Amino acid sequence: MNCRQLTDYPNVYQLPQTNQLKALMTIIRDRDTKRNEFVFYADRIIRLLVEEGLNYLPVVPKKVTTPLDIPFNGVGFEGRICGVSIMRAGESMEQGLRHVCTGVRIGKVLVQRDETTHLPKLYYSKLPADIANRYVFLLDPMLATGGSAIATIRVLLDANVAQDRIVFINLIASPEGIHNITREFPKIVIITAEIDQTMDENKYIVPGLGDFGDRYFGTD
Ligand code: URA
Repeated sequence: MNCRQLTDYPNVYQLPQTNQLKALMTIIRDRDTKRNEFVFYADRIIRLLVEEGLNYLPVVPKKVTTPLDIPFNGVGFEGRICGVSIMRAGESMEQGLRHVCTGVRIGKVLVQRDETTHLPKLYYSKLPADIANRYVFLLDPMLATGGSAIATIRVLLDANVAQDRIVFINLIASPEGIHNITREFPKIVIITAEIDQTMDENKYIVPGLGDFGDRYFGTD
């Protein structure tokens, strides 16, 4: 089964809605799911997202020789990748990336809402020095308003990362978040597992799964 490409947003893809994915998502949405199970099943979905993300990276022809001394015309990834997690919830996705890409470099960005202006404010960023030459997997499990992601993407663009080298992966996206990001950065690829209906007055995704970071790190 292929990813679903959203008609209105050509760079936004939803994971194939298989029975497996639906079952995994149901477990992590269930408020009665205990933390160890939440972590286990969220990690499985993260793995599916990262694996799918790799499909969006360009490849170039690569010739190897098999143990039978026969040449084989295959492909290899064209460029190198790195991850950038949006703290704190995005850090939960780092392990999934490491499992798939050995020795991957991972940067971090901390963006929080300013209490007075209510706008996202950048508090911290640490990126790989050669990030401009890499494809970037941007990690945040919940795409709500898109405010933190937009602030983080600006940091990446300031570091000379090209928009079309950013793959943003998340487990649940809101329609508003997708709209806000793609309006400002139309070339970024977004890969999400499910798209929910809306957000509540506190900007939680509805029906959602609550606070991802709290449930994953056990701080609820
Ligand atoms: N972040 C979360 O953890 N949950 C939401 O519903 C929205 C943002």
